Amino acid sequence: MEPDFQALRREFPILARKTYLNSGSYGALANGVKAAVEAYLEDRLIVGANWDAWVAKNESVRTLTATLLRAAPDEIAVTASVSAGLNALASAVDFSGPRNKVVVSDFEFPTNAQIWHAQEPRGARVVHVPPAAEGYIPLENFAEAIDEQTLLVAITHVCYRNGAKLDIPGIVRLAHAKGARVLLDCYQSVGSLDIDVKTLDVDFAAGGMLKYLLGTAGIGFLYVRGSLIPTLVPANSGWFAQADIAAMDITANRPAPNARRFEAGAPGVVNCYAAEAGLKFLLAVGTPAIEIRNYALTRHCMQRLEEIGWRSITPTQNERRGATVAVPSQDCVGLSKELMRRGIVTSYRDGNVRASFHFYNDESDVESFIAAMKALRARFGPF
Ligand SMILES: Cc1ncc(COP(=O)(O)O)c(C=O)c1O
Repeated sequence: MEPDFQALRREFPILARKTYLNSGSYGALANGVKAAVEAYLEDRLIVGANWDAWVAKNESVRTLTATLLRAAPDEIAVTASVSAGLNALASAVDFSGPRNKVVVSDFEFPTNAQIWHAQEPRGARVVHVPPAAEGYIPLENFAEAIDEQTLLVAITHVCYRNGAKLDIPGIVRLAHAKGARVLLDCYQSVGSLDIDVKTLDVDFAAGGMLKYLLGTAGIGFLYVRGSLIPTLVPANSGWFAQADIAAMDITANRPAPNARRFEAGAPGVVNCYAAEAGLKFLLAVGTPAIEIRNYALTRHCMQRLEEIGWRSITPTQNERRGATVAVPSQDCVGLSKELMRRGIVTSYRDGNVRASFHFYNDESDVESFIAAMKALRARFGPF
């Protein structure tokens, strides 16, 4: 049965005030997530240091993230950010051999290129895969870049600039055929699309709780395929990455046997409260239903943009799209500000205004956006 999306909208007070189309930057706040953060503060006021309960919250986030991705909890590190997870992973990779190439795409969020470039002094060679003339990155372009020297293919699932979704199963097949591993940066897709890391067959995946997972900043995850964990010993470490945290042993680094070895210091407890509440909410709605709704909303939005003569640059096929619709403008900063003045929250990147949809949006949001865009077209339309 389809979730009652209209009833779910009432859990997000901002939706009564604004047309909220900015989940690709920051998800809307649910009443339950606000209550969870308040519960943490209450705990501090009344119990003081409720350490065991706080560590349990971190474990709950790990388990819920595993459920979301169809992984095992032992394959999930709860990190402070995508960047923290990628740095821990990179620190465990040996680039000194002949297999030292890292393939990234031109659709990457900066952190998933910068961190691999930062490994160049350690022997990494970073190669970028460019888009084709029409703006998408076809599989052939990856086939040209991935070879026997490729150690890792580090790619985004959905591009933060234009909403394009890469052909992950195709890229994974190419990479595995050459003996390379695949890291998926799924921050722009997790929670908005249904993701099964086992079906996708990726070796690593990183994301965070701030956007479509309804949580907050300062908390994310790194998935590591179970069979690879013993082969990777991060040089970026800390006491929460140790096999026995309570041992307080200062004589050696003894990494945890599971993905916790990619963690570092004490968990961001308040973030765990928010992330747990967000994940529970999202899992109760269900990512298969959310994905269907997001495809319908983005398709409808793109059709309506076409009707008003202001085409988005986001691919129209579902297989090539996430939950963001990117619209080119001669002044995307001015346009986003003008939309905000009219109560429509968007963001902008790289010459485009981004309208990011989530299950709590509906057709009335699309219509408010379209009416405003129509009125602003003459001033802010594309060149
Ligand atoms: C695709 C993608 N990857 C990574 C990041 C950055 O993640 P973090 O700040 O947690 O390192 C973002 C943030 O917007 C993103 O959209």
